[in-house]
Amino acid sequence: MRPIGVFDSGVGGLTVVKELIHQLPHEDIVYFGDTARVPYGIKSRETVIRFSIENILFLLKQDVKLICVACNTASSFALPVIKNHFKVPIVGVISPGVREAVYATQNKRIGVIGTKGTIKSRTYEIEINQLEPEVKVTAVACPLFVPFVEEGWLSGDVVLDVARTYLKPLKDARVDTVILGCTHYPLLRPVIKQVLGENVTLIDSAKQVAVEVKKILGSENILNTKGKGKHSFYVSDNPEWFSGLAERFLGNSLKKKKKAVSG
Ligand code: DGL
Repeated sequence: MRPIGVFDSGVGGLTVVKELIHQLPHEDIVYFGDTARVPYGIKSRETVIRFSIENILFLLKQDVKLICVACNTASSFALPVIKNHFKVPIVGVISPGVREAVYATQNKRIGVIGTKGTIKSRTYEIEINQLEPEVKVTAVACPLFVPFVEEGWLSGDVVLDVARTYLKPLKDARVDTVILGCTHYPLLRPVIKQVLGENVTLIDSAKQVAVEVKKILGSENILNTKGKGKHSFYVSDNPEWFSGLAERFLGNSLKKKKKAVSG
């Protein structure tokens, strides 16, 4: 059976893989992390589009049946341009999160946090307002969150201080729903929750992405319903760094399923 292909700028897309494994246990998955060129969040639109196309071509060589763009920056910049240029279905992480957020908000004020690239692209704002023009969107880049997560700084005074500074515009705008628009941010959920308060709904699109992938595979009659899925991981550089971090992103429960990283 053909695998599902997933790519990200590095290790963060494993938050999406975790959900895919959970919801689609029979599917084989091939993951590509572009660790030689991470981070994408500070790169230009043109560069992110070029890298994304190269990543897709790599995955197509692995004969994938569907591609999931697990990176928010790549989904924001590249997906609108490349989506219809390939024969396999391509699913990004933006629309599933947008739908969930629009459904969740009561006061029609949604916050979006992401990399500089994701925020600059305005893709979230545009998609939210296409779905619900009345929603007021407050979007803020939180560039220090990615290195914090990669260094394992998931709590403590420094992280809390930075989070308070970044998230102030969202508090001022009195948003009731916030999209965690970056692969890494779900790992900072407790700090973000502490700053924004219990009443703010945090949206992590990974679950909805897996729901959408399952729906597409079902509708195209290519859903695997038997056997245990195999998972392969490829990186463009530094496999040791990747495997060191992989556990944090995949979660302990999946430790045993992790395969050796191939280069
Ligand atoms: N994967 C990226 C994203 O979700 C975060 C890391 C990066 O900047 O490459 O936007």
